Amino acid sequence: MAATTTREVPTARVAELTLAEEERFRKARPRSHQLWTEAREVMPRGVPSSFQDAAPHPIFVERGQGSRVWDVDGHEYVDFHNGFGVMVVGHAHPKIVDAVSGQIRLGSHFAQPVEDAVVVARELARRFRQPKWRFTNSGTESTLDALRIARGFTGRDRVIKIEASYHGHHDALMVSVEPPADRMGPPERPASFPQSEGIPAAIVELTTVVPFNDIPALERAFAEHAGHVAAVIVEPAMMNVGIVLPDQGYLAQARDVAHRNGALLIFDEVKTGVTIAPGGAMERFGVAPDLIALAKAIGGGLPCGAVGGRDDVMGVIEEKRVAQMGTFNGNPLTMAASRVTLLEILDANAYAHFDALAETLQGGLDEAIARFELPFHVITLSARGGVTYRAKRVRNYRDYLEVDKSFSYLSWLYQCNRGVLMAPGAEENWTLSVQHSFDDVLRYVDNFTEMARDLRE
Ligand SMILES: Cc1ncc(COP(=O)(O)O)c(C=O)c1O
Repeated sequence: MAATTTREVPTARVAELTLAEEERFRKARPRSHQLWTEAREVMPRGVPSSFQDAAPHPIFVERGQGSRVWDVDGHEYVDFHNGFGVMVVGHAHPKIVDAVSGQIRLGSHFAQPVEDAVVVARELARRFRQPKWRFTNSGTESTLDALRIARGFTGRDRVIKIEASYHGHHDALMVSVEPPADRMGPPERPASFPQSEGIPAAIVELTTVVPFNDIPALERAFAEHAGHVAAVIVEPAMMNVGIVLPDQGYLAQARDVAHRNGALLIFDEVKTGVTIAPGGAMERFGVAPDLIALAKAIGGGLPCGAVGGRDDVMGVIEEKRVAQMGTFNGNPLTMAASRVTLLEILDANAYAHFDALAETLQGGLDEAIARFELPFHVITLSARGGVTYRAKRVRNYRDYLEVDKSFSYLSWLYQCNRGVLMAPGAEENWTLSVQHSFDDVLRYVDNFTEMARDLRE
């Protein structure tokens, strides 16, 4: 656990180190900067997705192999970013390369079902104990479809989501993802704040927002909209504001409250699925929802998503009451990669390896935090984990607002300047892969320890 004694770190020291690290970052990456300048002529903010736009400037990547990636300036990194949590198989895994190149020689797209889709759906049914599955191409599509299925099944329009949870970029759930302080409303009754211009108010109005880990608030939301709520969607362990664990019993109670009110519980397992346990959060926390949205790691690096659920709930597709479709759904390349990922790579040994690496990270980081009496703590969940820059556990978004983001930015710079690539942003999550070694994770620990020491100098 975190340090028993903690002392504050002077803000001026954090600022001084940040300036020095930013300078070092920029000096070493002229080619990335040049490409970014050119990119801005043809792409807003110089990136294909706004998530890739991060200070000091984006790093353009040239290639990846195993646990490593190389940028266009020739720097090698241990990859802890892993493509926002997709690459648990590691880069250019020989089995993925063989499966995808074998398939591409046989044709890359038919928009007809392929046998691998049956194999993958069966494996998802086994892991997540939900009998019926459909494929999508991203996490956004998976939560969009899950929501439409829930609305179709219940004949209701309203959805309840958790404040600060990100479920993809479609309108219904791009609500109060990172609401500004002056628009977020009171903690126990958060406002529904559209996270982007261009989202119709009429859509936002249908989304009720509640705090994570707060059953009374959920009960109240149901009472206020009695008979109108189709579903509650939760990310069982929040992974976009550091890692926020569910309180003991919270997920089961949330399901009970939903069911008592004639609504469904949807788990967004886009990040947790197949990474924190073979059967994701459903297995790790022992709670079965009515619908599960998956994406990211299940595709072994190809764009893939899936939505699965109860027989009767998914029956709305069978009965042609709800439309679920897409040109690239279950395409041969993705299904070949997914089959190999789920059936040949992410086996029991893979999860034992993630757990052993996580233990090494947790031990090494806890030691540094205790030694330098830092107000931080570490959470690891198999292939996922991160440092939270606050001594006390975070239970919801309002707690997260107390986390000092200047530490996570400094940590990002320290890691990046010393050969570890983290996901951009202040959230400080890492994703391990089957190809990571103990030396790889110790590099992260060494860099962190160096930062901890420098903060105390
Ligand atoms: C929990 C969760 N749900 C949904 C999504 C959306 O996934 P995608 O970016 O594949 O659309 C993300 C993306 O980070 C996510 O973290």
